[in-house]
Amino acid sequence: MLKIGTLELKSRLILAPMAGVTDLPFRLLARRFGCEFAFIEMLNVRSLGHKSRRTLEMLTVDAQDRPLGVQILGKEPGFILKGLDVLRKYKFELLDFNSACPARKVVRRGEGAALMREPKKLQKLLKLIVKESPVPVTVKIRSGWDEKSINAREVALLAEDAGVSAVFIHGRTRMQEYGGNVEYGVIRKVKKALKIPLVASGDILSAQLAKRMFDETGCDGLAVARGALGNPWIFRQIEDFLKSGKLPPEPGKEEIVKVMLEHLRANTDFYPEDVGVMKFRRFFCCYTKGFRKVRPLREKVSRAKAKKEMEGIILGCKGLERVIPRQSAAKVPDILD
Ligand SMILES: Cc1cc2nc3c(=O)[nH]c(=O)nc-3n(C[C@H](O)[C@H](O)[C@H](O)COP(=O)(O)O)c2cc1C
Repeated sequence: MLKIGTLELKSRLILAPMAGVTDLPFRLLARRFGCEFAFIEMLNVRSLGHKSRRTLEMLTVDAQDRPLGVQILGKEPGFILKGLDVLRKYKFELLDFNSACPARKVVRRGEGAALMREPKKLQKLLKLIVKESPVPVTVKIRSGWDEKSINAREVALLAEDAGVSAVFIHGRTRMQEYGGNVEYGVIRKVKKALKIPLVASGDILSAQLAKRMFDETGCDGLAVARGALGNPWIFRQIEDFLKSGKLPPEPGKEEIVKVMLEHLRANTDFYPEDVGVMKFRRFFCCYTKGFRKVRPLREKVSRAKAKKEMEGIILGCKGLERVIPRQSAAKVPDILD
């Protein structure tokens, strides 16, 4: 169980926010496979205020898509208040503030992970958000800006003092972005310092790595990110492994093909056909990890625009041999390329 303010979750696993990934089709798929709580894609408070088409698309939810978290990015109190005003019309259960995004264009504006260098400013913003938000507020932080300025403990304590209901931590510095080792020791120190729950993120790529995060840090929950790409089964796999200590079987080829077709259909139902197909392209590589001689199909995927064409390519996977990857050696999908 995971309790974040008034929000009570049976599962300690959360689908992490991923820009460009955690859209409605992706979230509903994850939920079918045991994910209880999911985040929508990160919302920039400036775009929220303008109610752009893309922002409203990101805010599209469904009755089955609950409980749900929204994550905002920003640094100007005026824009944050405006954004919160727009969000009042939407139903969700948790509001997270991003102090973790490493993207150059974000940190250049002093937002996302750049706020790790201004803990007092971050605290002020969090106080404001906590005061205005109708739902529990959390903050997502990194271990620090770089290896010389690891300050997650200090930042987390300031956030707790500001009234947030939980802290999410990605155990890497901004400079590490998404590579290098996750600092389990830093996460453990933050956990020891806090009274509120700590949800850990970083390389939750397999059931074993999930268990390792719990064991080494004592964290209260896990945020699953890249591990869910092309692998919605991961939620059940982790739950089963934590309960029984036994690794559940990997999904077979037929099952993977079936789920790919469902994911594609959900995408083309939700977006215009070409957009839905294009958005599916990046997932194809993730789903087909371990498929032998898949390269020619991946090349075709990179050009596919029509649903029929993509379906044909997916069905082509049935004829390929598949090597079951060892879960403990799960590799990070190269979605960031
Ligand atoms: C494509 C992609 C987009 C992401 N977008 C966000 C985001 O919008 N907000 C956020 O807090 N984290 C974002 N993240 C970071 C993840 O939530 C997670 O903290 C990070 O990937 C580490 O977990 P992992 O090593 O298990 O993937 C993103 C990660 C990826 C791969």
